[in-house]
Amino acid sequence: IRGALLGRSLVLVGMMGSGKTSIGQRLAQRLGLPFKDADAEIVAAAAGMSIPDIFAKYGEAHFRDCERRVIARLLAGEPCVLATGGGAFMDETTRNRVKERGVSLWFDAAHDVLLRRVRRKGDRPLLQTSDPAAVLRRLMDERYPVYRQADIAVLSRDVAHEVMVEETIAALL
Ligand code: S3P
Repeated sequence: IRGALLGRSLVLVGMMGSGKTSIGQRLAQRLGLPFKDADAEIVAAAAGMSIPDIFAKYGEAHFRDCERRVIARLLAGEPCVLATGGGAFMDETTRNRVKERGVSLWFDAAHDVLLRRVRRKGDRPLLQTSDPAAVLRRLMDERYPVYRQADIAVLSRDVAHEVMVEETIAALL
C-alpha cells in the first residue's frame, strides 16, 4: 500500500469533524508512517497557545499564515500521514505544495454527520456562532468544490474507525 504513495506523504483534507485526525492516526499506524497533525504543530509552534486563542488574539489571517508555513515544513520532511485543518486546502500555495509533494485524500461527509461531530467537541472557533448549522453549510458550499480537487475522495460515515481505515486503504490501492 505504501508503494501507492511512491515515497510521498498522504495529506488528509476535509471539513472539521470529517475524521482527518481520528482516522489519520489509525491509517498512519497501518501504513507504518508517522502521523502529523497540522493544528497540533501550529499550537506547538505558538508555545502551546490554543487555536481558539490564536484566532482571538491574532486573527484568522495570522492563523492561516502559520498554517501555510507549518504544512510547508511538514511536507518538506520525511513522508507521513498529515492531517490538515479544514481551511488549509483552500489556500492555493498549500494546494500546489500538496500536489507536488503528496497524495491528497478528501474525507467527504454529510452536513448532519459533521454537525453532530463538531457539537460533541466545541473547540472550533469558526463555529462559535448562534447558528453553527448555517455556518457549516456555508463553509461546505465554499469548500467542497475545492476539496473535490483532491486526488482521492472517501465518504466519511458513522461506522467503526476500523471500517473507515479499510475503506481508505482500499481507495489508495
Ligand atoms: C478550521 C478547522 C480546524 C482548525 C481551525 C480552522 C477550518 O481544524 O484548523 O479551527 O477553517 O475549518 P479541523 O478541521 O481539524 O477541526
